[in-house]
Amino acid sequence: MKIVVIGGTGLIGSKTVPMLRQGGHEVVAASPSTGVNSITGEGLTEAMAGTQVVIDLANSPSFEDRAVLAFFETSGRNLLAAEAAAGVRHHVALSIVGIDRSDNGYFRAKVAQEHLIVTSGIPYTIIRSTQFLEFLRAIADASAEGNVVRLSPGFFQPIAADDVAAIVAEVALAAPRNGIVEIAGPERAPFNEIVARYLKAVGDPREVVRDPEARYFGGRVEERSLVPLGDARLGRIGLDEWLRRSQARA
Ligand SMILES: NC(=O)c1ccc[n+]([C@@H]2O[C@H](COP(=O)([O-])OP(=O)(O)OC[C@H]3O[C@@H](n4cnc5c(N)ncnc54)[C@H](OP(=O)(O)O)[C@@H]3O)[C@@H](O)[C@H]2O)c1
Repeated sequence: MKIVVIGGTGLIGSKTVPMLRQGGHEVVAASPSTGVNSITGEGLTEAMAGTQVVIDLANSPSFEDRAVLAFFETSGRNLLAAEAAAGVRHHVALSIVGIDRSDNGYFRAKVAQEHLIVTSGIPYTIIRSTQFLEFLRAIADASAEGNVVRLSPGFFQPIAADDVAAIVAEVALAAPRNGIVEIAGPERAPFNEIVARYLKAVGDPREVVRDPEARYFGGRVEERSLVPLGDARLGRIGLDEWLRRSQARA
């Protein structure tokens, strides 16, 4: 089967592409650096020719509210139009748990991306994931003022990129659900506690302060804003195991 992975050179894309190739599929790792650009349209028609499945793992270079919305709207429109013209049979996209329950500019852009997919007429599966363990440092940095990191005690359930990629590859090879699959890490704990454990383990001296009013990229975090409300597929790699693997790789 021919599969195009948009954002195939990114964190999740670069792990998903080899998994699919191991299964004997023809996989195009598509991104601007490989000549496929979902914003300008460069290379899209050629990449889509003969393609059965498209996996959208692209991310916006800017997280500024208007820039990220423009990225996911333009990219989504261009991709879905090219897929419709080529007769693609399954569109898979990676989204985020709770985007419709917490308000921030990045989440609004992901809601817009999902809306385009659901109304496109192309069979689809949306995978809503919790935050990646690989994103913990960026979260700490975004929540820091000097040496103090303020975070809500709302629940957090991060998942390892290796687990995300394995589930994305599996979903892409299955029949379209025309719906949403939720995925999360194996451990659920207060946001501030997980980030404090992470910073301590990597020797980062910053202090984490529990603050129910702390915003997450501008949005309020209630007890269950960032975790699945119903049944979710769980990854296998928890924080300690992920830290062990990251330290072994370093
Ligand atoms: N971070 C989280 O915790 C989290 C949680 C749930 C879901 N997600 C979603 O997961 C997805 C993948 O995230 P990631 O962390 O793997 O992303 P990433 O590492 O930032 O990679 C982004 C990818 O998008 C590509 N890209 C950028 N602009 C493009 C364009 N105009 N056309 C085609 N490709 C383009 C990049 O290509 P180049 O390398 O050539 O620039 C790169 O391959 C995103 O949609 C994100 O919203 C993230």
